[in-house]
Amino acid sequence: MMAEILSGKQMSEQLTQEQQERVAALRAQGIVPGLAVILAGENPASEIYVRNKKTMCDTIGVHSEVVRLPNDVSQEDLIAHVERLNQDPAIHGILVQLPLPEHLDEAAVLARVLPEKDVDGFHVVNAGKLFAGLPGVVPCTPKGILYMLHQAGIELKGKEAVVIGRSNIVGKPVAMLLLQEHCTVTICHSRTQNLKDVTRRADILVAAIGKPRFVTADMVKPGATVIDVGVNRVDGKVCGDVDFDAVKEVAGHLTPVPGGVGKMTISMLMENTLEAACRSAR
Ligand code: GUN
Repeated sequence: MMAEILSGKQMSEQLTQEQQERVAALRAQGIVPGLAVILAGENPASEIYVRNKKTMCDTIGVHSEVVRLPNDVSQEDLIAHVERLNQDPAIHGILVQLPLPEHLDEAAVLARVLPEKDVDGFHVVNAGKLFAGLPGVVPCTPKGILYMLHQAGIELKGKEAVVIGRSNIVGKPVAMLLLQEHCTVTICHSRTQNLKDVTRRADILVAAIGKPRFVTADMVKPGATVIDVGVNRVDGKVCGDVDFDAVKEVAGHLTPVPGGVGKMTISMLMENTLEAACRSAR
């Protein structure tokens, strides 16, 4: 069997076109969606992510503001920027790029972003809404994963979904979304025993571990849908958490890295920003 490759690149290109049209329509009504990104310190990966976000804003016509803060920025100064952006009517979405420098209290900073401007969906109010099954802002990567699964026409109801990784950014929220879709969901992590026995049950396997090529072919049920969330650098090359070449011989559907989930994350950030702009206009 040879897996069908789910191209996040193609899906995001199509979304970009649609979003360009939506922004044009909003601008015609006098609404210019605005996104602010706060980048504290000098993390090379974060620099790339923030640049890509800014480029996408320019492409679809979203106003963007990148707030660069030094590595030694104080908690108070960082929060003052968040508060300023909370009050700025030209800004509908605020994203604090993670990880923050170590001396800063991430949870305390995220708690200061207005939940309606929290386009990352990281505020506890939005996390709580997701848990409670109420409408709120859904984190971008999990939202992108569900978009890809729907777009590819993959049946979810009643299926076994296994998520490897329990982060607040991906593992936990994607598990909640899969549960909403009536999957039977298992979350695995570094202390899980007999991991292979669990992953081999999965009809949908989400790998969000942060270890290069961690998921090997023997961990995958034949025909399963495998979603690779990993972004790892090995010998200067980007690779995922899935051993792509081997797993593609076993899986039914597989997302590549690069060109998979990562592309969808940015598209969903734009989606959350447009939704925030529309909400603010109501
Ligand atoms: N760092 C890595 N991924 C993310 C993300 O989705 N949002 C933010 N704010 N920071 C990140």
